[in-house]
Amino acid sequence: MEKLLIEGGKPLKGDVRISGAKNAVLPILAATLLAEGPMRVANVPHLQDVTTTMELLGRMGVSLTIDEHMNIEIDTSTIEEFFAHYEVVKTMRASILVLGPLLARFGKAEVSLPGGCAIGSRPVNLHLRGLEAMGADIEVKGGYIHASCDRLKGAHLVMDNVTVTGTENLMMAASLAEGTSVIENAAREPEVTDLANCLIAMGANIEGAGTDTITVHGVKELKGCQYSVLADRIETGTFLVAAAITGGHIKLKDTQPQILESVLQKLDRAGASITSGHDWIEIDMHNRRPKSINLRTAPYPAFPTDMQAQFTALNAVAEGSCTITESVFENRFMHVQEMQRMGANIKVEGNTAIVTGVEQLKAAPVMATDLRASASLILAGLVAEGQTVVDRIYHIDRGYECIEEKLVQLGANIRRVPH
Ligand code: EPZ
Repeated sequence: MEKLLIEGGKPLKGDVRISGAKNAVLPILAATLLAEGPMRVANVPHLQDVTTTMELLGRMGVSLTIDEHMNIEIDTSTIEEFFAHYEVVKTMRASILVLGPLLARFGKAEVSLPGGCAIGSRPVNLHLRGLEAMGADIEVKGGYIHASCDRLKGAHLVMDNVTVTGTENLMMAASLAEGTSVIENAAREPEVTDLANCLIAMGANIEGAGTDTITVHGVKELKGCQYSVLADRIETGTFLVAAAITGGHIKLKDTQPQILESVLQKLDRAGASITSGHDWIEIDMHNRRPKSINLRTAPYPAFPTDMQAQFTALNAVAEGSCTITESVFENRFMHVQEMQRMGANIKVEGNTAIVTGVEQLKAAPVMATDLRASASLILAGLVAEGQTVVDRIYHIDRGYECIEEKLVQLGANIRRVPH
């Protein structure tokens, strides 16, 4: 199993390009199942989860070609089956996103129930309830969701929880349903808006994406289009923290400052100097130690749960004490015990971590447990004294494109070893 070796202590400096967003490209690739004609998706990040999604669609008979610039051409006219195998779905929960499109376009789908994962049980009950309200017959048997319908009908849905992929699944299904659907308590994440913009480019009639009430007027068919994926706000936030934790000064390009305001405000409070333009952000920590900052995760536009582990690492070496409350997932502090091995002073009580910053973390062998926890351990390694070894880095490859190459470009001493 590959590992990452990181020699800490060097402030990061230089420019880095941000890739397309994992959590935008996954629903957009699922949405291609709705299109009568070929689709071309650009700015696709080179990630394991994208490869997995291509395998999922390919197994159904969908034709996919990818060029050297990571643009993907998709033609669903060759589709033969409407089945998402367990061995694919168990590696990527977001496979559930094919359920809505398959039902809406073909009237049938068999999709493996996504297991839970390290950070929580991750149920999909709200996805299924919404599709049933739109007229789908759904039976869960043998670990699979067996779904069928005539043409879906528009429905007025009030979501019990704000769910990102739940909102996306139902918005895609509603796009081809008969009549109008309203999704209340919808997720407002920028990736939901990016999916809506792609669906609108395909001919969908959607209002209110980005707000908590999305209205979809169903149409008879959707056509293929060309669409370029939104920049990854979590990759952006991760590199911003990499600069802040090492006292460095970096410029991020091909990103969008307006989709991670809550993160920028926290970094400003931590003592970073931040400037930005239409598609770039510059952060300078002036070789200073960050100040501790309290945070509480919540659905967009509040502070994102996908940035919690990275800010736990930042607070672990900051001046002062703070509390970090994780309100979205039930078990998203697994990075804490790994950071404690590096000398971090963190106490977890329920869904809150109390973090007292230490002057210096010490390198140690640590183990990644989930995607964002892996990123936080790399960040801790960048500032720890000595050589940190991060194991099980297959987690990191699911969601970060060429992370060590990008960090090396910024002056980090990091390399991947076979095992
Ligand atoms: C999306 O996951 C993201 N993944 C996650 O990113 C992200 O952490 C999460 O949204 C929250 O922002 C993708 O977009 C592919 P949820 P999702 O449904 O949609 C409960 C990463 O690191 N819930 O918004 O699966 C659920 O238990 C990943 O990139 C139900 O109860 O998350 C959780 O407590 C990790 N029933 C809350 O809602 C449901 O049917 C939010 O989950 C669905 C969700």
